[in-house]
Amino acid sequence: MFENNDVLNRFSAQETPFYYYDLNLLRQTLHEAKVAADKRGFHVHYALKANFNSRILEIIQSMGFGADCVSGNEVQRSIDTGFAADKITFAGVGKSDKEIITALKHRIFAFNVESIQELEVINELAGKHGERANVSLRINPNVDANTHHYITTGLDENKFGVPNSELEKAAAVIKTCAHIDLVGLHFHVGSQITDLNVFKSLCVKVNEWKNWFEERGTYIRIINVGGGLGVDYNNPDGNPIADFEAYFDIFDKFLERNAQQEVHFELGRALVAQCGTLVSRVLYTKSGAKKNFLILDAGMTELMRPALYQAYHKIERIGDPVGEVVLNYDVVGPICESSDSFGKEVSLPVSKRGDLIAIRTAGAYGEVMASNYNLRNEIRYLYAD
Ligand code: LLP
Repeated sequence: MFENNDVLNRFSAQETPFYYYDLNLLRQTLHEAKVAADKRGFHVHYALKANFNSRILEIIQSMGFGADCVSGNEVQRSIDTGFAADKITFAGVGKSDKEIITALKHRIFAFNVESIQELEVINELAGKHGERANVSLRINPNVDANTHHYITTGLDENKFGVPNSELEKAAAVIKTCAHIDLVGLHFHVGSQITDLNVFKSLCVKVNEWKNWFEERGTYIRIINVGGGLGVDYNNPDGNPIADFEAYFDIFDKFLERNAQQEVHFELGRALVAQCGTLVSRVLYTKSGAKKNFLILDAGMTELMRPALYQAYHKIERIGDPVGEVVLNYDVVGPICESSDSFGKEVSLPVSKRGDLIAIRTAGAYGEVMASNYNLRNEIRYLYAD
């Protein structure tokens, strides 16, 4: 994708590093997701945590998605972007009183609640502010997402969700709360899930829990199965758009529901990952006894995933003529941390100071996880529209 010289010429004039967003790919991805979801009557809330860049949010909002937020500021950002309040959910294990009040005042669609204490606090604050709150209970389904342990969320040992042993009590507490209505159940097992069987196992658990509540006389209107659909980090050009048809099909086939029950999703990564690329310049090259290093002007401060999770991102030299001699490089950033590396032994054409390097599939959990450690510059952008 970045092999042609037009891109090289366009990028050459830019100060680096910057995030390059291909908004046409974003639109196409959203379109495919929307068509596949609408066909089955499914509702998709975009998980803002993956990327809350304003241009990206505006496009997602304009295409009719709801918003899944994990902070009061994300709720506010969604409202400011124009997302309808009745399409906004607010999740997270640690919502502060101030954040809950923000969400109550905006009359968002629902809170995804993760503990009994949180239920009580939302009830109390809703009462105090003359509001009512819809809640979905987050249940930890104990399904192994087969993904990196840092992004697995649905196991008993994870901090997320109301523990199964407390669900009976939670259901009873809700009945005593005058200012909250239980509208649904919420599940999320992890992120970057590429084995669709994981979602099939999730459906089995969701059916069990839904029945459990219904047997106890609690009607469940919303079944929220979270997000987690993975993308192809190895082959972004070959697989630029996730297989939304296959993904939604699993839920369509395996989730038991009646005509009144709605199925909600909270997709983040699969919607935005492939449209983003981190573009950087080679500052220096050096070769020691064991290693060749490419030292870039981007570091873990711009894209933290490789340092934090040893995550793989495809690295390419921009404007790469075919057939050049290649070398194995450790591609590193300028930050004073040994973990500040984008990849080890990466095969690249012999590169020199000033060359442009693309770090692909960086649209999700890239810009949003940036920091200004080492007093780094603010993130810059370039959009292709
Ligand atoms: N819903 C809940 C409750 C979540 O915790 C998450 C992600 C999502 C939805 C969206 O999941 P997605 O569709 O994007 O997989 N920083 C990590 C990923 C953390 C994911 C946290 N939760 C990374 O860079 O891989």
